[in-house]
Amino acid sequence: MSCFVYLAVFTLVLCGNVFAQDPEIVDEIWPEVQPLGRTGRLNCTVAKLGNNMVEWYHEDSAQTISIAETIDVQLNPMMGGLKKYEVRVRRKDDRQTHMLIVRRLRQQDAGTYICKIRVVGKPENRWTKKKGQLTVQVAPTIRDGPTTAVLEVSNGANSSLRCQATGIPYPNITWTRSDGGLLPLVNPVAQYRSPELPLVNVNVHHMGVYRCVADNNIKPPAEHLAELRVFHAPITRVVQNSVGQAQNRRFSAKLECIVQGHPEPTLTFKRRAGIEILAISDDDKFEVNKQTTDNQNLKAMEQWYTLKVKNVQANDYTDYYCVANNVFGSANSTIKLFETTECQGSNCPSLPPSRACSTAASVFVTVFVGILSYLYCS
Ligand SMILES: *[C@@H]1O[C@H](CO)[C@@H](O)[C@H](O)[C@H]1NC(C)=O
Ligand SMILES: *[C@@H]1O[C@H](CO)[C@@H](O)[C@H](O)[C@H]1NC(C)=O
Ligand SMILES: *[C@@H]1O[C@H](CO)[C@@H](O)[C@H](O)[C@H]1NC(C)=O
Ligand SMILES: *[C@@H]1O[C@H](CO)[C@@H](O)[C@H](O)[C@H]1NC(C)=O
Repeated sequence: MSCFVYLAVFTLVLCGNVFAQDPEIVDEIWPEVQPLGRTGRLNCTVAKLGNNMVEWYHEDSAQTISIAETIDVQLNPMMGGLKKYEVRVRRKDDRQTHMLIVRRLRQQDAGTYICKIRVVGKPENRWTKKKGQLTVQVAPTIRDGPTTAVLEVSNGANSSLRCQATGIPYPNITWTRSDGGLLPLVNPVAQYRSPELPLVNVNVHHMGVYRCVADNNIKPPAEHLAELRVFHAPITRVVQNSVGQAQNRRFSAKLECIVQGHPEPTLTFKRRAGIEILAISDDDKFEVNKQTTDNQNLKAMEQWYTLKVKNVQANDYTDYYCVANNVFGSANSTIKLFETTECQGSNCPSLPPSRACSTAASVFVTVFVGILSYLYCS
């Protein structure tokens, strides 16, 4: 290409007239692509410049940046010891490369830069010009407004989760389930690339946290979590459907129940007393707790409740119910408390290693265990 230009220039020179002196922009102005904050360099190589001057012009902001090596913009602040704009000229034979340097790139520095040769004695529309592109890459950002934070839908409904992002180049947006499961699409897959995740015939199994990641290869990628809640009647399950404990030794029993529902159900523990079923309230005998810490064993929207039956007595051996209610309905599970001869559970006193070889020692151990049981089980 440049050989061809040379040849053309050469031919013109041979023909021997005034056009032979016309300056030219040889080569393309190669596009420059740099991340935000970095330095961009555009090169304009000219031949036969003579006493004409090279101008750099930013089309997007409609301003002349430089003429020859002089910066023409109003503001050319120092940035880390160097100016925002600079032009460096390298000369080789009859060629000059005018390199425009733009430091600390901002988004508004992007766009089209025109290298113009201001040909003396010619109107601007007859100047030699060439365009170059400066792209400023921007890491992705998720736009909170149009992005779903929490989506609440009825069972069986159709809806979608949305994730809107900006970034240059425009990022790829990928959905996954944060528990690593498959996405509830017509053909379930682990990931789905689109700003919108369609949800068809939503059911309780679709509830949970969904993650969208916007990535355009400019670090760091942006990430967002969206939660899908499906309105439904409560579902209850127990950790163990029967729990044993010994009586009359100040041991307590722990009955556990896991509840799911949306809106969040109210939970009541009940117990059977003969033919009656009585509600249990937090008192000296019973303690109800809702586990607040995130539990690995819990699925989306599940709550873990425990009922502690303190100081288990003979009349505590019966059926217990955890009953959950919300506007969509109610559910219950049963846990049986039964009698054992030994202490059960993690809070039982453990025997210290017995190396008793004298009567005194074994008496000591017996007393010690007694004290321990008292301390642990009360
Ligand atoms: C312009 O030239 C400089 C120095 O040779 C080089 O570092 C830079 O990458 C060039 N710019 C483009 C867009 O090719
Ligand atoms: C949801 O979409 C599916 C498939 O397009 C359709 O069969 C179903 O009737 C829709 N459900 C509702 C509640 O609109
Ligand atoms: C989006 O993903 C495709 C395929 O993996 C990739 O070729 C393309 O470069 C990505 N786009 C961006 C902006 O990262
Ligand atoms: C548990 O649910 C069953 C079936 O819905 C119901 O018949 C029973 O009365 C409920 N038990 C309690 C204690 O609420």
